[in-house]
Amino acid sequence: MTKPHLALVPMREDDVDVVTGIEQRAHPFPWTRGNFVDSLIAGHSAWVFEEDGEMVGYGVLMMTVGEAELLNITIVPECQRRGLGSGLLGFMFDAARAHGAARMVLEVRSGNASGLALYRRFGFVEIGRRRAYYRGREDAVVMACDL
Ligand SMILES: CC(C)(COP(=O)(O)OP(=O)(O)OC[C@H]1O[C@@H](n2cnc3c(N)ncnc32)[C@H](O)[C@@H]1OP(=O)(O)O)[C@@H](O)C(=O)NCCC(=O)NCCS
Repeated sequence: MTKPHLALVPMREDDVDVVTGIEQRAHPFPWTRGNFVDSLIAGHSAWVFEEDGEMVGYGVLMMTVGEAELLNITIVPECQRRGLGSGLLGFMFDAARAHGAARMVLEVRSGNASGLALYRRFGFVEIGRRRAYYRGREDAVVMACDL
């Protein structure tokens, strides 16, 4: 079997309907279509992740001076647990470094086992918590990782 070709390509407004459909299936608190459009308008670093030319995920980074905030990282539910999330996060590290970031920060729901496990594997550590941030029930865990 040949190795699949993985690529990160800039997200375009044309992608947003498909991205929003995936988002609704993948997250209990999904971003809206408007959130993605606003990210593009704001000039965030927004990417579609392709496997052999098919969209299997996407990610959004907000770049500030010396730091990148990972605002969204998602793999299509049917494609999860095949190493794609790790591949996408690796690409996002490269994109952040290319912008001159020395650190990546993010927020994740305290009950998001897959997200927390992925981030810990990449060396993220908890640096704070926003108590009862999600619908007054779940904490947001703030994590950071040196690039
Ligand atoms: C988090 C997410 C991006 C991971 O993508 P993925 O393609 O499944 O990740 P990988 O296959 O690379 O898995 C990497 C590691 O993450 C952890 N992991 C992934 N899914 C997991 C799960 N359901 N339960 C526990 N750990 C999990 C494991 O440590 C895994 O390594 P392993 O398979 O060798 O045990 C994906 O689950 C997803 O899109 N979730 C919905 C959106 C989301 O929660 N995004 C993150 C917060 S914004």
